[in-house]
Amino acid sequence: MNHEPRHPATIDFFNTIGAQGTFDRERFLTALTRALSGVSWQRLLALLSLPNWLPFPGSSQINRDMRYLYDETARIVAARRATRAHTLAIVDLMLNATDPESGRAMADSELIGNLYGLMVAGHETSAVALGWSLWLLAKDQASQERLRAEVQEIAGADDIGPETVERLQFTKQVVQEAMRLFPPAAAIGRQPREDTTLGAHKVLKKEPIFVAIWALHRHERLWESPNAFDPDRFAPEKVKARHRCAYLPFGAGPRICIGMSFAMLEMTAILATLVRDFRFTTVDGHRLELAPDFTTRPRGGLPLWVTPV
Ligand code: HEM
Repeated sequence: MNHEPRHPATIDFFNTIGAQGTFDRERFLTALTRALSGVSWQRLLALLSLPNWLPFPGSSQINRDMRYLYDETARIVAARRATRAHTLAIVDLMLNATDPESGRAMADSELIGNLYGLMVAGHETSAVALGWSLWLLAKDQASQERLRAEVQEIAGADDIGPETVERLQFTKQVVQEAMRLFPPAAAIGRQPREDTTLGAHKVLKKEPIFVAIWALHRHERLWESPNAFDPDRFAPEKVKARHRCAYLPFGAGPRICIGMSFAMLEMTAILATLVRDFRFTTVDGHRLELAPDFTTRPRGGLPLWVTPV
């Protein structure tokens, strides 16, 4: 994105988490991006029913990256445990949290696993969804104005927290519609434990099955003018009238995304905060190209003009 002029406040994911001191943000991000690029290969191995330990281009580097990411996460947890701080950084909130029933706090291994999961499963997915939301709003200035008016009416100039987010219905619908057109996870995979049937189809044990979320979200039988951006599709009464499985950005069933509520909350709050203060417009001559990988990424980013409102 081209910033013109620059806003003084910056939102940094790793600050929010609680990574400080010698934490090397750039190195972490490079390792994370490389590690995520292995997911496509792992999907391919599954599709071909090949064992997941088979090497693929870059796999030894990716294994080193994953080790590094895990070790760095462990270091963040250890450093924050030593400070015994009670800040709003995510790692502090997790360190100080206790199970309401048993009173038990999380062990280090659980903390590391949860934080690692948040960074790997919850970072790029939400970032990509927000990027597409802004891009779609830049192409549809009427929706952008409507969103801005909603935020101004409901939040005024106040910070946007969880209570406000609940009332930002149209803003939430924009995020939902952006994830319909560009689902961050374009497909999810399964392998049955036993031979089974799926409708009229026989599926053998371990045979890979992919749910093509992208295709589902643009299916003509499920959506009117499926390629058009229309946040009103997610008005509550329309959602109720639709089959639960027509829309699966977070999956469904027992393995549904555990970060779904958190992701919707953070994305709605960030989108509302950005659009209230800035106008996003398209850059002439930019051609959209997809580069789907772990998530539905655009090649070369989504350049937009950003001007204060
Ligand atoms: C826009 C944001 C997000 C999208 C689109 C998304 C999408 C998904 C999808 C489609 C699945 C299901 C995968 C499957 O069924 O195989 C999933 C699972 C998961 N997500 Fe998310 N996710 C998002 C944000 C997050 C966040 C913020 C977190 C962490 C706080 C998170 C953590 C997880 C975890 C741990 C699983 C695995 C759950 C399990 O297997 O039981 N996700 N996500």
